[in-house]
Amino acid sequence: MRLTAEEQAMLAGRDGEAVQTAMEILVKMGEMYGAERLLDVDSVHIVLAMYKSIYDAGVEVVEKFADLGGRFKVPTTLDPCGMDTERWAEFKTPPEYAAKQLRVTKGYEKMGAIPIWTCTPYLTGNLPRFGQHVAWTESSAVCFINSIIGARSNRETAVIDVAAGLTGKIPEHGLHLTENRRGRLLIEVDPSLELSPRDLVALGYFVGKRAGNKIPVVTGLRPDLKIDTLKAMMAALAASGGVALCLLVGISPEARTVEEAFQGHAPEEAIAFGATELASTKAEMSTVQSGKIDLVAVGCPHYSITEVGEVLKLMKGRHVAPGTEFWIYLTKQTATLAERLGYRTALEALGVQFCLETCMLISPVETWGFKTLMTDSGKCAYYAPMQCKTEVVFGSIAECVEAAVAGSVG
Ligand code: F3S
Repeated sequence: MRLTAEEQAMLAGRDGEAVQTAMEILVKMGEMYGAERLLDVDSVHIVLAMYKSIYDAGVEVVEKFADLGGRFKVPTTLDPCGMDTERWAEFKTPPEYAAKQLRVTKGYEKMGAIPIWTCTPYLTGNLPRFGQHVAWTESSAVCFINSIIGARSNRETAVIDVAAGLTGKIPEHGLHLTENRRGRLLIEVDPSLELSPRDLVALGYFVGKRAGNKIPVVTGLRPDLKIDTLKAMMAALAASGGVALCLLVGISPEARTVEEAFQGHAPEEAIAFGATELASTKAEMSTVQSGKIDLVAVGCPHYSITEVGEVLKLMKGRHVAPGTEFWIYLTKQTATLAERLGYRTALEALGVQFCLETCMLISPVETWGFKTLMTDSGKCAYYAPMQCKTEVVFGSIAECVEAAVAGSVG
């Protein structure tokens, strides 16, 4: 790799051992990918954050960089914390787990991370622009910023993200290069389908499963889809497949036309998505179709204030059924707005709880012994059987509310 004089000095230890180690990691990674140089990145988002997924090794990495004097060079935000940041004890978090998570929190405080713990940093102050190079982890967020904003990031991995934050650099490879951002697979949605937000999540799930390592291009969508819908769709897409960029014709800035999305090339493959595919995908997203619901979990990715307000409206003053939990995952900022609007008090009076700055999959939900979880999230539907050890029912937000009130579905 060609390194600038500044980068060579960083690699030689001029800025301390933390930066030197980070540079060694990035240079090795760049050589592995055949990158010619390092790029400056404008922001970083870190996934090495939740104890449930990083274990003791992750805690040690964070502490090591912090102890070596590492300080983040560019704005760096954090993926959800491995437990509710305020009420972790009430959410049955084992104390020894909490102690490890708090060590991670302390390490990032020392390194100067922006203490926003979320999978939607683009809605909470870390918003890249079109064409900007960033180094982000969190599959749903990377897919959102590449596809909907046209910012440039690969799906980076744990430790690489910390190294990028400490140096402000990432090897130039993959989706940082224009030629690697062209579509390969055409997904033609039947334009006569009236797709609801829940259907669009199912479409995302379908596309992710079919895409493999090809960048999908989706046609037949209305151009006026809302941010919350796109957020949920991108999360499903990035969970069921390894997708980091999905070009939605008429929505993605790099896909104003089909020709632009494919950069003048022909698609390598074309797949139709119609009523049959929609129905079979929705069926596939639930492991059971009826029965008692122990937990309704929404907010994967973290809910916006609009979505919180929608839940309150749909509850229509009814209480969550005894023996069922209803949890909304969201950021502290959104919770503050919900408090100001009176939503939080009203929802809590109905038995709906806020889970702050954490994740429904990467927190110790299994300590509750839930058997069946219901969600409106394609990402949660995909991972819950593995991560939460539960059966899963996928439904719209209205269906989730009805299940919470009834305590069951079907
Ligand atoms: Fe966010 Fe966790 Fe879902 S990180 S996208 S709530 S799996």
